[in-house]
Parts: sequence; structure tokens; C-alpha cells
Amino acid sequence: MRWYAVDKRRLPWRAEAGETADPYRVWLSEIMLQQTTVAAVKPYFETFTARWPNVAALAAADETEVMRAWAGLGYYARARNLIACAREIAARGGAFPDDETALLKLPGIGGYTAAAVAAIAFGKRAVVVDGNVERVVSRLFALSEPLPGAKSRLRQLADSLTPDQGAGDFAQAMMDLGATICTPRSPDCGRCPVAEWCAARVEGRPEAYPVKAKKAAKPRREWTAYWLERDGEVLLVRRPARGLLGGMLAMPVEAPAETVWEEAGAVEHVFTHFALTMSVVCGEGASQVEGEWWPVARIEQAGLPTVFAKAARRALAWRKPPRAEAA
Ligand code: ADE
Repeated sequence: MRWYAVDKRRLPWRAEAGETADPYRVWLSEIMLQQTTVAAVKPYFETFTARWPNVAALAAADETEVMRAWAGLGYYARARNLIACAREIAARGGAFPDDETALLKLPGIGGYTAAAVAAIAFGKRAVVVDGNVERVVSRLFALSEPLPGAKSRLRQLADSLTPDQGAGDFAQAMMDLGATICTPRSPDCGRCPVAEWCAARVEGRPEAYPVKAKKAAKPRREWTAYWLERDGEVLLVRRPARGLLGGMLAMPVEAPAETVWEEAGAVEHVFTHFALTMSVVCGEGASQVEGEWWPVARIEQAGLPTVFAKAARRALAWRKPPRAEAA
């Protein structure tokens, strides 16, 4: 805790000394930080809080605008739940519940987020376990049981360390330790404030923890993205609300029209449960098709999820320049 007081990272959602934490900012940051790094989250957090500075503003926001602002962060169900959660809180008068059980009932808030918000925003004692905390704890105790089976044991051990007062600072201290010193591949034990109590360090192989069960290789899938252009605009479609990239604007993945499709190569993208090879094909023309025509020159602002942004760049790089430019 002393180390954290001095060396903590200055992050936009953290209160400075003497300030009280804003539950809206804590909640928003914790949702964004699920499965996503601090570096990737920072600019999104700044954009969101500048545009929607409190939960009432976010609750009143246009859903497609929020999805567009989220584009690139991934795991889009988080954005849909974010809106649902903001609306539920606004409907109840705008105050976040302050304990884990009540937080858990809100859309998009699972065990991790409920504990993090209760501890960080409201000073409640809660046991907050993310990947960083798992790594630090598994090393401190040289836990030989492999993940994911070891999760409940790691949680017990984290519980045994969590103080009654300052659980939020404690959780964030563990996270910062994991992110800056007790890193996955080359822990910097010489700078570690808890090195003298670390069993993995005594063994001399801290990087061997956490032990992980062998994972099955990810299956690979193959899709085709269709870049259909007409008068300087490209056809985009909104993906079904449920399922992969649900609710996001995207290129069609089934031929939207009968035309000549020319191959423009492929892009690769790795999702949680599979790796995707997406072939890109380009075509022109078409009259009556379902979807939204978007100006090609403004494609970067369409809010395409990353895999489709890659596919769009591929199509743009490949397609012949318009005649006027070529001349
Ligand atoms: N990762 C998730 N939540 C975090 C937080 N509050 N501080 C630093 N890293 C985090």
C-alpha cells in the first residue's frame, strides 16, 4: 500500500489525493478494461467522458453513436450492456448502488466489475481478482495448481491478503504491481515491494507462474467480406443484435448483389474463440440492396469493428484508383 501511494500509475479514472472517486468513471473504466489493456482504453475513456460526462448523459445518448465511439475496443456486447446499465441507473435516479450484490444485478456487471466498483468507488471491502492479481498472487504463493482450475484457490488467497480498509487501493496496487513490475515474462524483482515474501522468487523462477493448463489450438474460420462500391460510397450493413460483433456496422459477409467480385486478398483477426481468415472481394454497381451507403472517403469514421476496418483498408489499397485520379 505504501508502494502504491508513491508509485501508482496516474490514470484518468483515478481520483487524485483528496478527491473522492466518481462511480461513473470507475464503472466506465472497469467495463472498458475487461479484456483490454490500459494503453488501449485511455483514449476511449477520454472520448467517452468528454462526450458523456455522467451517467445521465450516457443514458440519453443515441445508441448508434455509442457503438460508433466504442468501435475498435472489441467485445461489443460490453457496449450494448453499457448503454442498458446507464439507462437502468438513470431510471432509478442516477445513483450507482454501492454494494456488490446490488451491482451484480445490473446489465454487464459480473463478479469482477461488481467487486472493483464496490471497492474502488465506494471503499467497500471486496476481493478484486483480474489477470494481474492472479499472476501476482500465484507467484507470492508459488501456486503449482494450473489455471483455470486454480481460480477459486487464487481467489481465496487474494481474499486472505485483502485489507478491511482500503480494499480499492489494495486491488489497484496489485494491478499496478502486475502491470509494471510483476510482468508475465520478465518480472523486475529487484524493484518489487513484496519480493521478500515471494515464494516464486525464492524458487528462482517467478516467470513460471501462473502455471497454465495446455490450451487447445483455436479453430480457424474463413469468411468473405464484400466491398461493394457505387458513386464513391460503399455498402455497409448493421450486424444482427445478437452474436459476434452484434449491433455493429460492418461490410456484408454474404454477397449483397450479383456483380463481378474481384479478389483483394485476405486479412487475419483473432477472436476469443477462433481465428478468422477473412477474404476481401470488391465489386461495383448494384441498384436495390439492403443496407447503408457510406462515403468511401469517410470510411475511417464509420465505426467499423477492427476486423472490418482491416478489410476496408485492404479493399481500398487494392481497388483501382478512380479514373480522374489515374489520368
Ligand atoms: N485494470 C482493470 N482495472 C484497473 C484499474 N482500476 N487500475 C489499473 N488497471 C486496471
